[in-house]
Amino acid sequence: MRNRVRLVFFLLSLANMVLLGLALARAARPGWAAYQRSYHRLEAQSEPNAAAKAATEAAPVAIAQIILPGLQRVDRCTTCHQGVENPAMKGAPEPLSYHPGIGRHPPSRFGCTICHGGQGLATDLAAAHGRVAHWHQPLLPREYVRASCGQCHTKGDVPGVPELAEGRHLFDTHGCRGCHRLRGVGGTIGPDLSREGATRRDPAWLERHFLDPRAVSPNSVMPNFHFTPGQAKDLTYYMLSLTGEEMSNYYTSESVIPSIPYGRELFARKDCITCHSIGGVGGKSGPDLEGVTRRHSARWLDEHFVNPTLVSPGSTMPAYDLTADERTALIRFMAVATDKDAEALLAGGAKALTPEEAAVEAGARAFVHYGCVGCHGQGAAGGVANPNSQGGQVPSLIHVADDYKKSEVMAIVLNGERPPPADPAKPAPPLTMPSWKGTVNEEDLHNIVEYLWSLKPRGEGSGW
Ligand code: HEC
Ligand code: HEC
Ligand code: HEC
Ligand code: HEC
Ligand code: HEC
Ligand code: HEC
Repeated sequence: MRNRVRLVFFLLSLANMVLLGLALARAARPGWAAYQRSYHRLEAQSEPNAAAKAATEAAPVAIAQIILPGLQRVDRCTTCHQGVENPAMKGAPEPLSYHPGIGRHPPSRFGCTICHGGQGLATDLAAAHGRVAHWHQPLLPREYVRASCGQCHTKGDVPGVPELAEGRHLFDTHGCRGCHRLRGVGGTIGPDLSREGATRRDPAWLERHFLDPRAVSPNSVMPNFHFTPGQAKDLTYYMLSLTGEEMSNYYTSESVIPSIPYGRELFARKDCITCHSIGGVGGKSGPDLEGVTRRHSARWLDEHFVNPTLVSPGSTMPAYDLTADERTALIRFMAVATDKDAEALLAGGAKALTPEEAAVEAGARAFVHYGCVGCHGQGAAGGVANPNSQGGQVPSLIHVADDYKKSEVMAIVLNGERPPPADPAKPAPPLTMPSWKGTVNEEDLHNIVEYLWSLKPRGEGSGW
């Protein structure tokens, strides 16, 4: 008996030693060190003499890490990805290759995981790439890496990533906010999307869900918007960019990239064309702007925007309240603007509206902005399913002018309403009319009602 216990102890401690030995062996020859030695050998190839070659090959290996307090992370990816900043490593096999196009985002300030995902601290391949059970931010597939740009560049367009602006536009025009909260604004029928890109970091799932919510979420009450595959991808990019990362000011300082398209958009929004021509096309109260960036320095133009009369005494040009990014974008646009741009701007110019038309137009915008379209459909025409409600759908609002007084509609919007179930034995209809008290201001409410009244089909009696 006693001997048997001893034998068990002996075997156990033997097993223990074997395990310890294995662990030590692994620690002594981890994968990253082998990659670093390959890197040193690659570097050595370009050394001129044998002594320098030998010295480079024999360089010690060590874990490399980038500490990023402003992004609340520590990235050790460069432990293996050694050549990211070395142009001589163009075309070298991964993980040793040069990283093109990193430009204004040097590894020393940005690291890697803010764009790619993965587990910054890990030095083991599978763990670093986040392909392990407990890590929720695996590397984004190559096709979706650029979604990350939208975490910091949150407005305007990101050059080379049209999907982000397009996805944001789809979000703003399809009433997603009617059911989803984003950064504190929106409804509560669906999940809060403020951190969607961190919690649901699966592009394939998101894309399938946008093409048909019920294909991946059975019984979902999210409407099928019949998006095209391109639109589903745009929205997926936008969702992936909503990670809710906390960053220091430096990283969010360039929320708008002063690109040429952004400059064109500002030029249109500020109606510059009413006073200025480009290549002879446009307004005549200010100078023609063709070639203006050759006549004046960027500094002169920038100061002129801040204070026209200071730079051009007696100028009648208004002083616009433009940010530095906006001024830069306008200058970049003026450098390339042609008479074709002027023609396009004039063609899209706003026509004069009566106060009534202006209210209806503002109401239509508010109806979209607050997400009413998400439940009541584009143009308030209905079509969104609401099981077990009367008619099985959220009501169209085209006929509200026949059924209600304006004050009654305002009361419904402010107080909300619960649709009665068609069959009391079945579950209540999932979509209810939320209360908008405290969200929709009085002016918007008034305009929304004017908009709803404008929808009443023409030619029908007006309820006398
Ligand atoms: C242990 C070494 C090692 C570490 C640490 C490591 N990588 Fe890699 N990485 C590789 C190797 C090897 C490849 C090429 C083969 C592959 O994809 O598995 C690669 C490929 C990649 C690729 C391109 C292929 C793909 O799957 O998209 C990206 C992007 C990448 N790594 C990013 C990262 C980031 C970000 C980190 C830090 C969180 C990181 N890597 C840390 C070794 C490493
Ligand atoms: C500012 C965002 C950004 C940062 C920061 C960044 N990358 Fe990239 N990375 C990209 C983009 C965009 C691509 C190109 C994807 C493509 O080819 O379409 C890319 C490509 C790569 C590739 C090649 C991918 C492939 O599938 O072949 C690797 C490897 C890689 N990055 C690793 C890193 C590492 C390691 C770091 C940190 C030193 C890093 N990246 C930092 C945005 C970034
Ligand atoms: C973590 C935040 C962050 C991410 C992610 C990020 N950027 Fe940037 N970006 C910045 C900051 C900050 C600057 C200004 C850098 C500087 O010059 O100091 C910048 C500068 C730029 C510029 C230059 C703007 C100019 O003035 O011309 C471009 C273009 C740009 N980023 C595009 C991208 C693209 C494309 C991606 C995705 C691959 C990306 N950025 C991802 C923060 C970010
Ligand atoms: C009528 C209400 C409604 C509208 C309008 C609506 N959704 Fe949803 N959404 C939901 C509900 C409910 C869910 C949860 C069930 C599911 O996964 O489909 C959901 C789920 C989602 C999810 C998955 C969240 C997760 O991680 O589980 C995303 C992403 C999403 N919606 C985005 C959008 C976008 C973008 C729009 C606008 C184009 C939109 N939704 C419009 C009700 C709505
Ligand atoms: C109310 C009419 C008016 C509007 C609107 C207006 N400008 Fe001007 N702008 C002028 C006048 C007048 C001058 C000439 C006096 C001066 O230099 O300030 C001028 C001068 C300029 C100049 C210097 C041209 C040169 O050749 O010296 C630039 C550049 C310019 N404007 C750009 C703009 C842009 C961009 C906008 C829209 C954001 C704009 N302006 C809006 C009237 C206007
Ligand atoms: C989450 C979905 C949802 C959103 C978002 C929503 N509604 Fe509704 N709304 C409903 C439902 C469901 C009803 C039906 C209530 C009932 O039958 O009592 C309704 C009823 C109404 C009615 C009364 C229609 C009638 O025929 O009785 C008006 C008016 C209305 N909504 C306006 C709006 C406006 C304006 C907005 C945006 C500010 C809005 N709704 C946003 C779901 C929604």
